[in-house]
Amino acid sequence: MKRLIICLLGILGSLGYVEAENIEISTPHTSLLLSYETGGALKWVYYGNKLSETDIRSMKSGQWDAYPVYGLNTPSETALSVRHADGNMTLQLEVCEVESSSQDDAELFKVLLKDKVYPLHVTLYYKAYHDVDMIETWAEYSHQEKGEVLLNQFASAYLPIRRGDVWLSSLYGSWANEARLVQEPLLPGMKIVKNKDGVRNSHTAHAEVMFSLDGQPRENEGRVIGAALCYSGNYKLRIDTDESEYHHFFAGINEENSTYRLKADEVFRTPELALTYSEEGLSGCSRNFHRWARTHKLANGDQLRKILLNSWEGVYFKIDEEKMEQMMADIASMGGELFVMDDGWFGDKYPRNTDRSSLGDWMVNEKKLPSGINHLIDEAKGKGIKFGIWIEPEMANLKSELYEMHPDWVLKAKGRDVVTGRGGTQVVLDLANPEVQDFVFGVVDTLMTRYPEIDYIKWDANMSILNHGSGYLGAEEQSRMYIDYHRGLENVCQRIRRKYPKLTIQACASGGGRVNYGLLPYFDEFWVSDNTDALQRIYMQWGTSYFFPAIAMASHISASPNHQTFRTVPLKYRIDVAMSGRLGMEIQPQDMTESEKELYRKAIAEYKEIRPVVQQGDIYRLVSPYDKLGVASLMYVSPKKDEAVFYWWKMEHFHNQHLPRVKMAGLEPETYYRIHELNRIDKQPLDCEGQVFSGAYLMSNGLELPYNHLVDRTEKNEYASRVLRLEKVD
Ligand code: GLA
Repeated sequence: MKRLIICLLGILGSLGYVEAENIEISTPHTSLLLSYETGGALKWVYYGNKLSETDIRSMKSGQWDAYPVYGLNTPSETALSVRHADGNMTLQLEVCEVESSSQDDAELFKVLLKDKVYPLHVTLYYKAYHDVDMIETWAEYSHQEKGEVLLNQFASAYLPIRRGDVWLSSLYGSWANEARLVQEPLLPGMKIVKNKDGVRNSHTAHAEVMFSLDGQPRENEGRVIGAALCYSGNYKLRIDTDESEYHHFFAGINEENSTYRLKADEVFRTPELALTYSEEGLSGCSRNFHRWARTHKLANGDQLRKILLNSWEGVYFKIDEEKMEQMMADIASMGGELFVMDDGWFGDKYPRNTDRSSLGDWMVNEKKLPSGINHLIDEAKGKGIKFGIWIEPEMANLKSELYEMHPDWVLKAKGRDVVTGRGGTQVVLDLANPEVQDFVFGVVDTLMTRYPEIDYIKWDANMSILNHGSGYLGAEEQSRMYIDYHRGLENVCQRIRRKYPKLTIQACASGGGRVNYGLLPYFDEFWVSDNTDALQRIYMQWGTSYFFPAIAMASHISASPNHQTFRTVPLKYRIDVAMSGRLGMEIQPQDMTESEKELYRKAIAEYKEIRPVVQQGDIYRLVSPYDKLGVASLMYVSPKKDEAVFYWWKMEHFHNQHLPRVKMAGLEPETYYRIHELNRIDKQPLDCEGQVFSGAYLMSNGLELPYNHLVDRTEKNEYASRVLRLEKVD
């Protein structure tokens, strides 16, 4: 451990002998540079491409505090604002000590700061990964004041971004229309991206953003900073463009209605903000996020995901033994590897037939499943597939045995009627309460103890916190409710992962309500959206791919007309879209024709071939659906660049339409690749089928793709899509 103790040096500093010290925090290709003078503030100097020793020596100490605090000379935005036990509203921090230590995967820097007058400490952490360009930063606060210190604002981190033509890319949306991409120049004033749902934090806006520093965002060129707040609760990202030369970016827990009373010696830790930088455009930043996710953040990120059938859109609540057996037989016969029984299997006194009852009563409904879950697992095993199950363990319905037994376990404001959610009777359990945490852990633990061969759990969360009130927290602590809910949830998740590290768990929250890096360490994947319409999925998966890798993006083929948009999309197109993520199905196979089943079989077999490239490869987004060029396209390239999969989806249809020829990216220019079309339906192969092209040609010209499929007249429709596999030729 390198340790620089500098408080003593402060004396020398006051005599004018001390020069500013640099803290160089670097990853393979990036540097974050901070500086300090003994007994002075911590300054931010630089974040971007890796610096040379000479550059560092020549750089002047920055003008911005690395972690601005409120109270003295702060008409501008701050990261931390407190009220001391004696009522004083000001902070003034000085650097006391800087430590750095090597961990397995990263270098950890710890900057200890102390208020000049009060016994209040702030420790800033910077974790720089050895193998990926990602730096995580967070803060910890503690004090020894006589009384509680009120935390009014407690951001994880601050980053100044030099003004110029800086553009922000962020994701917004709603249920069934998640992760819409919006790109806008940063103009004077304050831009806020926030969430206050309490439970699900990524339906309406995402806690991840990218800043394109060189004007209008480009996918494969230009300098980009990416930032992801690793938190599952309410958050706030602020970008203040004030009178200065910089945009001021702050990210942290949303402090609204969440004032925190910090007791003496208690440690408050903020969530991490993960920062990345790339000179290869937005896609370059995405590749950094994906690599970091797969190797460091996501549960079991190095394991390929199974191809599954989920029962929801196939049978909804109408679960019974016969249908489950039939669905398992069908998915097994098509080459699938896992069957997931969704909502509707539980509830004894109150059977779960609609969304109005039974949450909390996690026992099998014996009328629907007389031979129980072990029988279903045996059936699955007999067919060579695995079995998974749906739960929503943080919730209850007023009509449930759980609520009858523990009415005090739900979030509810004292003296007021409870406001309910889904089905008019859903309520949220109070995860601040350790007994409730034990119960929620027990939901998984009991299932896994009774049925140890369950391979997959879909963990849902279908309600916001609509009642500010915890029966567990004291009167003084009510404003901690949102924070303590997520601490409770994280505690439960940690217990589950300690005991069941290999279990596959999907984070679902009415679709994509929990797509964040706060929860992903405990989950293997997430449900992108309850909307399975292939055309709309292109937009949603495009946006989601900015920050999250394909391996985690559950992407299912569903029925046509689609159950959410009622759009009729041919199977070929539905397959080609679903195959760009973690492939699955969400459909009743009984309703399919034999020729459709054949297409599924082929698609599943082909997906197995390309699965390592899709799930472990590097993404290159090529043509955005938002650019309205009539086509959208992206590709995945294997880390060794010896294989790639190229996706091309037509987005609109006109006769004699002129679609752009799509240039590929990410290939080795000198390498030759053989082209093979997957999921082919055309009577004749494409001109490029089986042909060999150099990476250079493919990246500067691209291939000519017809805008229609060559099929019988009766099978013609307005859709067209292509999936091409590229393999290196020796
Ligand atoms: C949520 C999920 C769906 C499904 C239903 C079941 O809406 O997002 O996928 O599991 O709940 O009630």
